[in-house]
Amino acid sequence: MIYAQILAGGKGTRMGHVPMPKQFLSLADKPILIHTIEKFVLERRFDAIIVVCPIDWLSHTNELIKKYIHDKRVQVVVGGSDRNDTLMKGIAFIRDHYGIHEDDILITHDAVRPFVTERIINDNIAAVLTHDAVDTVIPATDTIIQSTTTAVDAIPVRSTMYQGQTPQSFKISILVKAYDSLTAHQKASLTDACKIVLLAGYPVSRVRGEAFNIKITTPYDLRVATALIEERS
Ligand code: CTP
Repeated sequence: MIYAQILAGGKGTRMGHVPMPKQFLSLADKPILIHTIEKFVLERRFDAIIVVCPIDWLSHTNELIKKYIHDKRVQVVVGGSDRNDTLMKGIAFIRDHYGIHEDDILITHDAVRPFVTERIINDNIAAVLTHDAVDTVIPATDTIIQSTTTAVDAIPVRSTMYQGQTPQSFKISILVKAYDSLTAHQKASLTDACKIVLLAGYPVSRVRGEAFNIKITTPYDLRVATALIEERS
């Protein structure tokens, strides 16, 4: 089975004072989350598309999907306290409703990256059919500086540096095995799902993202996203 999971369980605190988590804010004519789900329903190979949202926004999310998305594969599930917790809540739903089989794959995506393309989704599916895990990345354009204090610790060679985007895709059985092998501290501190798999010793392959596949995090990002949408229409 091929599953998609849209991670929409965050609070969006870096967006500042807005009346709702950023995934529900309007981008042009509809909520950011809806733009994102629309990209996934276009892919017919998905057997189910799981949207994971905050508990307080469950009925709102269901109403939005009823209004904008007419596709029975889309199902809404309550998320968790951090991103990985949300990810695992989606996987628990899959386990409870469909069972998890050796070759089942999961394409996970940030609800707040509405500019993902058909090509990126396709490349993720193709790559994860032959690899345990897949990350979507773009080459770093700025030099990356590593710093744990006020001083610069290291300046890695830029040509070996990439910026991580989503989708991130997994053989579900491998991701579950990797997550179960982590300590409670690692589970709480990891912000990246591919790192779960890497830490457990599995290889992670990469596919090419797009510079415009931005994550809407701050008010500035929302202005950029609005400009991108206007330019397209
Ligand atoms: N996410 C999630 N569940 C969480 C936290 C995050 O599903 N508990 C999702 C967000 O909804 C978003 C994606 O993961 O689509 C990327 O999250 P990010 O923007 O980094 O975090 P937020 O918690 O949404 O925002 P902030 O860190 O500013 O509070």
